[in-house]
Amino acid sequence: MRTTWCRKPLSQRCAQPAFPRKWVRPSPVRNRLTEEPTRVFEQVPDRIRTEIPSAPKLSDETFVLLRDFIYSKTGIYFPEKKKYLIEGRLGKRLQLLNISQFEHYLQLLKYGQQRETEFESLCNIVTINETSFFRNEAQMNAFQQKLACEILSKKNYGSRILRIWSAACSSGEEPYTLAMLCLEHLKPRFPDLHVEIIGTDINTAVIEMARAAEYSHYAIRSLPELYVKKYFDNTNGIYRLRAEVKELVRFEYKNLINHQTMRQMTHFDFIFCSNVLIYFDQQAKIQVIGDLYDSLNRGGYLFIGSSEMLHRITNAFKLVSFPKTTVYKKE
Ligand SMILES: C[S@@+](CC[C@H](N)C(=O)[O-])C[C@H]1O[C@@H](n2cnc3c(N)ncnc32)[C@H](O)[C@@H]1O
Repeated sequence: MRTTWCRKPLSQRCAQPAFPRKWVRPSPVRNRLTEEPTRVFEQVPDRIRTEIPSAPKLSDETFVLLRDFIYSKTGIYFPEKKKYLIEGRLGKRLQLLNISQFEHYLQLLKYGQQRETEFESLCNIVTINETSFFRNEAQMNAFQQKLACEILSKKNYGSRILRIWSAACSSGEEPYTLAMLCLEHLKPRFPDLHVEIIGTDINTAVIEMARAAEYSHYAIRSLPELYVKKYFDNTNGIYRLRAEVKELVRFEYKNLINHQTMRQMTHFDFIFCSNVLIYFDQQAKIQVIGDLYDSLNRGGYLFIGSSEMLHRITNAFKLVSFPKTTVYKKE
């Protein structure tokens, strides 16, 4: 499924100050979703280009403005100690665009004609996408050995649809792990089972990788040999997931902090939202967890990262304990 940005029709867009041409040079940036080159900025004279310094410096004041902008749009909160990360990673983006100052880049993000495209690039740059297959084995055991069977036993024969959402799925390892578990353990037990897994993320580059479903030898390091042999084709060290696994999963762009798009996600039996809450502040966590609660069916389960907790965020869920993990049930 193709992901699209929700652009307002031109007529509905508010009048914005024009982004001054002199700050940037042309940059044909490839839209990772459509694969169409997008002309981001307009031409600037050579005279200005040569004046641009190589590594832009980020002042404390602009860091706060940039940090607040990122937070308001994504929920990701960068404390002062992470200023170096923003300066380093975004500094390279500024250099690529030949923008000399972070202040100008912020204006571009807020008011530039291509602000939506640039916001996509920003998300691709500032997010941390660490993930792996079977990242949380205790959770996968609880899912496969107990909870999925519990949910499926309550569904009628012939209408056994299992709906799973891997929210903030990065390059797809988590939803594909779930797909392999369904094929390996649930399908033999429930032959009428129909599995629908949706993987979503705010980073369009990792979504593209997830859709491609091609992994390096390093990426499959934590996969049991059985799964590698049964569900991947290895060509010259590239491990391609087989169609039977891929077809259980679809990927979409979704920003967890966007209340409106979150409300479209409904009727899930399981939601895995792991290792992303750590980047949010308390307020953003409360909002996102509230929306995830609404997205679950009654009797459904939420899984979060092993270092994350819902203490002081919500007490709407019932805590269910398993060896080495806790799962949150919507009663
Ligand atoms: C560390 S990875 C976790 C991946 C996977 N869930 C796991 O546990 O292995 C965090 C992911 O959250 C995504 N992310 C960060 N903020 C997000 C937001 N507001 N909406 C959706 N995804 C977000 C990042 O792009 C990144 O891929």
